[in-house]
Parts: sequence; structure tokens; C-alpha cells
Amino acid sequence: MSSFKTLDDLGDIKGKVALVRVDLNLPMKDGSATDVTRVEAVKPTILELAEKGTKVLLLAHFGRPKGMRHSTMSTSFVQGDVEEVLGKEIMFIPEVMGPVVEQSIGILSDGDIGLLDNVRFWPGEEANDPDFAKGIAAHGDFYVNDAFSAAHRAHASTEGLAHHLPAYAGRAMEAELKALDAALGTPEQPVAAVVGGAKVSTKLDVLENLVGKVQHLIIGGGMANTFLAARGVDVGKSLCEHELTATANRIMDQADHAGCIVHLPYDVVVAKEFAANPASLRTCNVHEVADDEMILDVGPQAVEALGDVLKTCKTLVWNGPMGAFETEPFDAATVSLAKTAAALTEAGALTSVAGGGDTVAALAHAGVKDDFTFVSTAGGAFLEWMEGKALPGVAALTV
Ligand code: 3PG
Repeated sequence: MSSFKTLDDLGDIKGKVALVRVDLNLPMKDGSATDVTRVEAVKPTILELAEKGTKVLLLAHFGRPKGMRHSTMSTSFVQGDVEEVLGKEIMFIPEVMGPVVEQSIGILSDGDIGLLDNVRFWPGEEANDPDFAKGIAAHGDFYVNDAFSAAHRAHASTEGLAHHLPAYAGRAMEAELKALDAALGTPEQPVAAVVGGAKVSTKLDVLENLVGKVQHLIIGGGMANTFLAARGVDVGKSLCEHELTATANRIMDQADHAGCIVHLPYDVVVAKEFAANPASLRTCNVHEVADDEMILDVGPQAVEALGDVLKTCKTLVWNGPMGAFETEPFDAATVSLAKTAAALTEAGALTSVAGGGDTVAALAHAGVKDDFTFVSTAGGAFLEWMEGKALPGVAALTV
């Protein structure tokens, strides 16, 4: 793993000003956040800096306002949620640079926290304009990036600032980078990857990167249908990207050459309509799917066999559900395999790292979110990391 500075490398920071990039892009409903996991993730960094007597200026984006002030996208909307999680009042500052920020810093006492407005209100953010970064940097003594989930963006607040101030990884970023390294950087072998979700097309680069790195690639969700079709299985009216069967075959050939075993379901749960507990529900061999049926989950025999595969592995990286988990009973495979992974983790036999999109919701649904070694709060950044790409926000911290 490339090395980076952490909060342990900071000397006496009493009276200094820290510019701390956090991810406050929270899911909202009726004016308040429906999930504050991202705030909980950055709480240790914020409180550690505050307790050391630093004035903490939080820098974040909220939505995609495209370089203009947008009344519904001010970070002031999440101020209350942040205060609740931190257990502390914070000051909202409606700018990211200039006299208003300077005056606010003058009002803050050592150990106080300020929340700057949505950094994406200014076009310099997404353009990664060095002058914009310099303007923000002028207010701080050092920069802390604790927003792994925004690290795939080469923006001024995620990348540019690291070139203008001494730069450090916050505690959440540090934990994330260590966990990701343990999963795919320098993992204990054998390694299994579970990749699920609806479409192969959104995860082509992930699959191509993984076949060269893991010993077992477990494919679930709608994307497994495309692989089954590529192997000549008639998948009925299942979700399937028939135009990608050649690509699926190429990935399976690459896996063969790399010594990676691709696991596809051999029994499946099917129905004629997609609804909760439909009358037409049945479990069958993949070769017995009728023309008017669709595959909605991996079958119980395959799940048991996949659990046995996990038992032979030391490391697991998981992205995407195994079936249409939001609708019962098509959550069964995801829940069962997630529970096996959690039990192996608890027994100390498996290092399990999960992240991206629906994955956190799927593991929470299975009741095992806290039992994995590490669950990333990142969506796009986690996927880009699984694709083997260098993340600009991480690269900028590297010393
Ligand atoms: C996210 O919600 O995944 C991050 O905050 C990144 O947001 P973005 O996709 O708008 O850059």
C-alpha cells in the first residue's frame, strides 16, 4: 500500500485551522437525512481535531448543483444531522472563501466546528481550478481528507487542496484504505469476490480486474443471467443483456487463463411475475427455466455450495446483491450467503470487505452490516477501486 500521512503525524495543532473534506452527501427525505452513516464515519476525525484545540472547517458537497448556488442544495440542510451525530453545535458559514470565512474563523474558538457551504456551488470545484483551491487553502493551516466516497473525483476539495497545504488522511479514510488493501491490495489468499447487481454493463471493468486478482468469482443478481445465457442456458424472460454474451464469454476465458473459478448458479428461484411471494414461484435447475419465467434469485443448493467456497477462502470482497433482495422471498440467497460470510468473519476465518451502491442496504437487510470486517460507505469510489483504478483523492495524499 502506498503510504500517506495520518492524524498521528500532526504535531501540536492547538489554535490552528483544519480544512477537513467530508462526505455529507446524505440521502434525504422531508428535509432530514434518512441515513447518517457517512456522518458517523467522520465523527472520530472531527472530534479528535476539535479535542486537540483546532478550529475545524468542514468542506463538503451536497448533490450536483453544477457550479451554481442552488437553494435546495445548501449544506445547511444537513447541519442539524451533523450536530446531532457529533453531539455539538456547529457554525454554518455560507461561503467557502473570502471575508465571510475569515470573519467566521475569528468568531470560532479553538475546538469549534464550522460547516462551509456546498463547495460545488462554485465552478472551480469540479474544474479542479488551482486558483479556487488556493483561495480555500488560504484559510487553513492543513488539509484532512476523510471523504473516501468522493475520492474518485479529481475536484479542488478532494484533490487540488492537497497541493496547497500539508495533507493528511482522516481516520475514516485511513480505515478505508487499510481495509481495501487487505481485500485486494495484499490480501491473504485464497480470495473470493461476490459481484451481483442487475447489469454486466455497469461492472465490466470490475469483473475484468477481479478475474486477475481473485481465485473465486461468484456472480449473482441479474448479471448472472447474461453469463448463463453466454453458456447456452435459456434464461426465459429474465433480465439479460444478450448483446453482452460475447463479452461474458471473454471474461470467463480470461478467468480460465488466470486460474480464477467463475461460480454461476446451477439452481435458481423463478417466477412468472416480479412481485412479493408470487403464486408462480418455484425453484428449479437453471436448464429448466420456462420461456415465460424469470430468474429472481440464486437457488438454495447453489447458495450452500457458495457458502462452502467461502469456507475455503481467507478474504472476501463483496459488491452487489445475489437476487432481487428488496422483494421477498428473492432476498434469501443474499441473506444466507451474507450470514455465512459474517459467521466466518466472527470466527476469525475470513476478512470480509463490502461496499458500493445497494450492498450496504443488502447487508443491513441481512442483519450483518456490523459483522463484516469492513463495510465501505462509498458507492462510485468503491466501484472504481474494484476496477483497479487509481483514485485521484487518494493519490494526492500519497507521500
Ligand atoms: C456519493 O454520494 O457517492 C459521493 O458523495 C459522490 O457523489 P457524486 O457522485 O455526486 O460525485
